Formats: sequence, structure tokens, C-alpha cells
Amino acid sequence: MNNFFSGFHKPEGFGGWLLLTGMNIGHSAVSNWGLKHLALRPQDTILDIGCGGGKNIQRMLKRAPEGRVCGLDYAGASVKKSRKLNAKAIREGRCEIRQGSVSENPWPDNTFDIVTAFETIYFWPDLAGDFLEVRRTLKPGGVFLICNEMNKPEQGEVPYQYWINKLSLKTYTAPEFHGYLAEAGFIHVQIWSEGKNRLCISARAKKD
Ligand SMILES: C[S@@+](CC[C@H](N)C(=O)[O-])C[C@H]1O[C@@H](n2cnc3c(N)ncnc32)[C@H](O)[C@@H]1O
Repeated sequence: MNNFFSGFHKPEGFGGWLLLTGMNIGHSAVSNWGLKHLALRPQDTILDIGCGGGKNIQRMLKRAPEGRVCGLDYAGASVKKSRKLNAKAIREGRCEIRQGSVSENPWPDNTFDIVTAFETIYFWPDLAGDFLEVRRTLKPGGVFLICNEMNKPEQGEVPYQYWINKLSLKTYTAPEFHGYLAEAGFIHVQIWSEGKNRLCISARAKKD
């Protein structure tokens, strides 16, 4: 994969900075649609995995004014841009952004009320194991929200197939997501779809 396309997997350098600026703008519609399905409480503690340019962290900080929103991303450029965009909240102690992989989530067990993943699941290396990591960091009963616009339809033509191939994205059907979530100990799985290929999925971490 050449540098431009690999930037979608792991944005780095000036090209990555440009891509992240574009994603902060270009992903607004799908992000705002996904956030409509999240019942945020003002004091919630939230983690946004694959936080990219940090726009969704900023949106959720506004909607949880007494809460705390953290970000995790394995790309240095994403961490830098997210920290810059949310610098005020970081200074106030309401935001923390760490560099690391979803597969080795650096936060302790039972930390978050909500974990979100916008337009990032396509790159996760091991969905079954990575969903277990999400559940580990969620409090029992906490909510995991996934929002994507590239998905595998259950039948018929695959929208955006050219881009899925070009960017080597891993895509899943709604029932496949349901299966992975159930395996990882999530319950109350709800799935919404819209337009050509948008999916938003929420699930609750089972209490042991
Ligand atoms: C397409 S961007 C989406 C960014 C942002 N969530 C948005 O909606 O604009 C995908 C992001 O996921 C991050 N990412 C991909 N795989 C990851 C992994 N295994 N662990 C942590 N972050 C990952 C990338 O570095 C990138 O910042």
C-alpha cells in the first residue's frame, strides 16, 4: 500500500495531519448520526478508540460537561492532533489522550461508562480479542458504540467496494458484529442502519 492509502490505517507525518484534518470534517455527518444513538449523561466517563483527529472527543466533551473523555490511538499524528484540538479540556483535567493499540488498551478494568469506535473497526487486527479488551475497560452495564459507513451487506452488491479494496479495509455484516459482541460478553445489542451503508451498533457489557 502506498503512503497515501496507508495513512488511513495509521496517519503519520504531514500527510497524516492533512488526512486527519479532512476526516474531522468529512466524518462529521456519520459521527453526528452515530452520536444520536448514544444516551450520554453529563457526568459520564468515555473512551474514544481510534480517535483520529479528536473531533468526536470534542463533541462528547460538550455533551458530558461534568464528565471526562479519553482517547486512544496507535498513530503519533492522531494523538498529537487530538491533544491539540482538546488542549483546554486536557488542561482542565477532563481529557486524556494516550498512544497505544486497541489490542493492549492501557486503561485498567472497569474504567469507562462508554467506549466509542468511529470509522476505525476496519483496521482492528483481532475483532474477537479487541472486543474483549473493550469489555474489560467498561464498567459492568457500560455501553460500547460502533459507527461505520463501510460495512458488508448481508446480500447484494457491496457499496464502496473500490475503496474497501484500495484501503484494504476489513468489513463485517450486522449479524457478524452481533456474533463477535455476544462472544465477548456483550448483551442488548441494538443495530441501526441508514442510507447506502451506514451502521451504528450499541451493546452493553454483561455484569459478571
Ligand atoms: C479512519 S481513522 C478514523 C478517525 C476518527 N475516529 C474519525 O471518525 O474521524 C482510523 C483511526 O483509527 C486508528 N487505528 C487503527 N487501528 C488501530 C489500532 N489497532 N489501535 C488503535 N488505533 C487504531 C488510526 O490510527 C486512525 O487514527
